[in-house]
Amino acid sequence: MGASFTTHHVLFLVWFFPATFSLSFFFFKAESISNVSCNEKDKQALLTLKRGLTDHEHVLSSWSDHKDCCIWDGVSCDNKTGRVTELHLNYSRLGGEISGSLLQLEHLNYLDLSNNDFNCTPIPTFLGSMYSLTDLDLLGANFCGLIPHQLGNLSRLRYLSLGSNSDLYVDNLRWMSGLSALQYLDLHSADLHKEVDWLQIMSKFPSLSKLNLQNCQLDSLNPSLGFVNFTSLRVLSLSDNHFNHEIPNWFSNLSTSLLRLSLYGSSLKGNIPPSIFNLEKLEYLDLSDNSLSGKIPDSLGQLKHLIYLDLRINPLSGPIPSSVGNLSQMQVLLLGLNKLNGTVPKSLGLLSNLFAVSISFSFFTGSLDEAHFSKLGKLKQLDISYTPLFFNVNSNWVPPFQLEYVDMSSCKIGPNFPTWLHTQRSLWLLLLPLSGVSGKAPSWFWDWISNIHTVDLSNNHIEGDVPDILLNSTILKLRSNHFKGRLPRLSANVEVLNLADNSFFGPISTFLCQKMNKKNKVKVLDVSNNFLLGELSNCWRYWQSLIHLNLGGNNLSGRIPYSLGSLVELKSLSLQNNSIYGDIPSSLKRCSKLGLIDIGDNNFSRTIPLWITKLTQLIVLRLRSSGFKGNIPQNICQLSFLRILDLANNSLSGPIPSCFKNISAMVMPDPENQDVYFDSLEYEYDYGSYLENLMLVPKGHELQYEENLKFVRSIDLSSNKLSGSIPVEISVLFELVFLNLSRNHLMGNIPENIGIMKKLESIDFSQNHLSGEIPPSMSNLSFLNYLDLSYNDFSGRIPSSTQLQSFDAVRYFGNPQLCGAPLPKRCIPPIGESHNRTSIGKTKEDSESSSFYMGMGVGFAVGFWGVCGGLFLNRTWRHAYFKFVNDKKDWFYVTTILKVKWLLEKLRSGHLSK
Ligand SMILES: *[C@@H]1O[C@H](CO)[C@@H](O)[C@H](O)[C@H]1NC(C)=O
Ligand SMILES: *[C@@H]1O[C@H](CO)[C@@H](O)[C@H](O)[C@H]1NC(C)=O
Ligand SMILES: *[C@@H]1O[C@H](CO)[C@@H](O)[C@H](O)[C@H]1NC(C)=O
Ligand SMILES: *[C@@H]1O[C@H](CO)[C@@H](O)[C@H](O)[C@H]1NC(C)=O
Ligand SMILES: *[C@@H]1O[C@H](CO)[C@@H](O)[C@H](O)[C@H]1NC(C)=O
Ligand SMILES: *[C@@H]1O[C@H](CO)[C@@H](O)[C@H](O)[C@H]1NC(C)=O
Ligand SMILES: *[C@@H]1O[C@H](CO)[C@@H](O)[C@H](O)[C@H]1NC(C)=O
Repeated sequence: MGASFTTHHVLFLVWFFPATFSLSFFFFKAESISNVSCNEKDKQALLTLKRGLTDHEHVLSSWSDHKDCCIWDGVSCDNKTGRVTELHLNYSRLGGEISGSLLQLEHLNYLDLSNNDFNCTPIPTFLGSMYSLTDLDLLGANFCGLIPHQLGNLSRLRYLSLGSNSDLYVDNLRWMSGLSALQYLDLHSADLHKEVDWLQIMSKFPSLSKLNLQNCQLDSLNPSLGFVNFTSLRVLSLSDNHFNHEIPNWFSNLSTSLLRLSLYGSSLKGNIPPSIFNLEKLEYLDLSDNSLSGKIPDSLGQLKHLIYLDLRINPLSGPIPSSVGNLSQMQVLLLGLNKLNGTVPKSLGLLSNLFAVSISFSFFTGSLDEAHFSKLGKLKQLDISYTPLFFNVNSNWVPPFQLEYVDMSSCKIGPNFPTWLHTQRSLWLLLLPLSGVSGKAPSWFWDWISNIHTVDLSNNHIEGDVPDILLNSTILKLRSNHFKGRLPRLSANVEVLNLADNSFFGPISTFLCQKMNKKNKVKVLDVSNNFLLGELSNCWRYWQSLIHLNLGGNNLSGRIPYSLGSLVELKSLSLQNNSIYGDIPSSLKRCSKLGLIDIGDNNFSRTIPLWITKLTQLIVLRLRSSGFKGNIPQNICQLSFLRILDLANNSLSGPIPSCFKNISAMVMPDPENQDVYFDSLEYEYDYGSYLENLMLVPKGHELQYEENLKFVRSIDLSSNKLSGSIPVEISVLFELVFLNLSRNHLMGNIPENIGIMKKLESIDFSQNHLSGEIPPSMSNLSFLNYLDLSYNDFSGRIPSSTQLQSFDAVRYFGNPQLCGAPLPKRCIPPIGESHNRTSIGKTKEDSESSSFYMGMGVGFAVGFWGVCGGLFLNRTWRHAYFKFVNDKKDWFYVTTILKVKWLLEKLRSGHLSK
């Protein structure tokens, strides 16, 4: 990792974590070693304390009877009296019981037990009798339960930190009124919601300088209060609460000395009151991730001392006020993920101290030119991604800055190559996908990028050969351009290489068999959809780090070499759409981490190998259109993580296995920590990820799945020679979304209780010999938006429901005995039936029905999947999510399903909408 990466993290971490206020910020720490020996009573008290504590790591090994206790680790004494005054036991892993012997330490004024693990026990009440304490630090020590009122007796206390414990709460805070000397108070993550008067109580401490009430379950800032005056407050964090109202007016006179204010993630609504910018000393302001709307007030320019401003993830609209140019101290300006529009003021270019600026995912229009950057000599990080801005600078522009991080994804930069980039010598990350750049890359370009860690030029129109140089970037994405010629050589630094969707040609073996000086570290190689030729070589020994390999969509021929099985780290293997034939070598069963196999659209003409069930991690198995014959192995159901099984368009015969209930991934919903399963669909790295993609035919049409692949559960056995009936057991696949059994020789009925497969969106049973009535339970499938039952022998009335009637009649054609809407044939009493034949015109089987697109127009309920599917199809959303996770609070927004839902909430409420 380069230097700039470190800088980046320093920046974001230091600024985001109020927890980094350390004790030493405030108080001098005595560390003098005196030759006055330790008070015997204190020593015995400490030895008793030690006996109660569990100390598996022997951090207290210096605490021995025959040593002076003043030289024990973590102990400080008064150098005249030999009494113990300070205990610094902020070691991780101390636990056990805190002995009441501490009370013997009558002169103890500093007690630090932070970052230990007291196993969710209550805070000892006797701490409230240690009257000499000035500093009590129990941060992150895993205490639980009621915060003891007795602590209110510590009238000398200046520093009190009870933050980051697992489960602390208060019934009220009135006991705190005794803490009149308090300067620092950290209660973050303690549950304070029972104290409605918390604000009045907190504002009465005359010397309180730092207050952290982040994530305290507070639900009101008491907007009706006219006036709140924290006399000496300098730092205030009220983030991660749920206020659900506007920013109260009293904020404007909260404290004349306030330097830092954090209110992110607190469900604040309404406009940003201009008066909040009366806090004239403010240096740091974070209002991100709320529901603040309206414009950014022009009075922003009053905050002359502002260094850091974060307004991301709000529905703010309108322009950036031009008064922003007055913020001469500004270093970090984060305005992305809003609905801001209008043009970007040129006064932005006056912020000569600016280090990082992000206006990504906004609706700004017009252009950015030289003036917008005129004085930005200190700029290191520029993020204008996913804005409709035109980056309009002269080809000979020499910017005043040396950037380290630049993200201009989806900006209008082209068609000309951005030559100013050549002046940048410290870049670590360069993201220019979807930016309209075309033509040939200039000659300096390839040498120049070899020093850049992460480069993404995907989805442009860049042409020409990649010259015969070593590619050296750790992450290099050139997908979807017009590159041609031989594949380039790689240095030993490359880890992710995506050259898909270009016009590279020539034998793949030259590339695969290139020797590198050091061991090849490539983890992701995607050269799919080019014009590569020849056989897969036997050079896999150079590629032992590979995790994702995609060689699909080329003209590769020959057999799969046995040596491919040496890639034991492999999680996904795509060889689809080539001309590969022969056996699938059993050596592949050594690749036990494989989660995705896509070898469809080749010419294997073999049976499905039985050993495939040894690949117990498989999520996706796509063997489509590859001449497979014989039966579907019964034990395929041992693949309990399987989510996508596509065996369509082969010559498979025999029955459909009836063991499906063992494929638990299709039976049960994902567990909370599901993301661990998806390593094979996604490779994440700093500032991005590589996503697997897969062609599926979910609703009669081929669609590429990428972002939303992990939401799909699909079985496609269509166009084979399968016989027998549809196993009744199939209906336990509660999570199945797409089911296609069409174009086989299936007979019998549709299982009666198919209606319990609530997630089904698409069913295709067409062109079989299925018979009987359509089960009435099918009308319970409320997400169903594609159904094809045509050309079977179904009979009777189509059950009435909104859905089943809303499909095009074509989807029921070819069943002479079937009647009722939407078919023109009425259901009539049995007597006349045989004499009345409906005249059904011939229809083109594959014609597109209007209900294809989600049936939105016909009023289906749009459920979770519908919304999800729609949104995640779009690369943009995912990027939004990623960026947010990556450059902010990543410790907090872990990528669990909960967080995905959180994002969806945002998307639904139109926050990120484009
Ligand atoms: C402490 O030690 C210092 C030198 O190490 C000596 O000058 C001083 O006299 C000693 N004081 C006492 C009280 O022993
Ligand atoms: C004792 O401590 C005080 C401050 O705590 C310091 O100024 C003084 O020099 C120390 N004296 C000795 C002998 O270490
Ligand atoms: C304990 O806290 C002090 C600051 O009060 C710090 O310097 C020291 O590194 C901490 N020790 C541990 C083990 O975290
Ligand atoms: C807040 O109180 C302090 C001390 O009582 C006082 O000096 C200051 O002027 C007050 N602030 C406001 C805005 O009234
Ligand atoms: C910005 O958006 C608002 C609505 O969100 C619209 O009324 C206004 O005209 C837009 N301004 C510009 C300059 O596009
Ligand atoms: C290749 O990249 C490494 C860092 O990943 C860098 O130290 C080295 O200078 C680069 N080599 C060339 C030829 O640019
Ligand atoms: C036969 O079907 C036609 C429409 O296809 C309908 O108009 C007619 O009434 C039907 N005859 C009987 C006897 O139901």
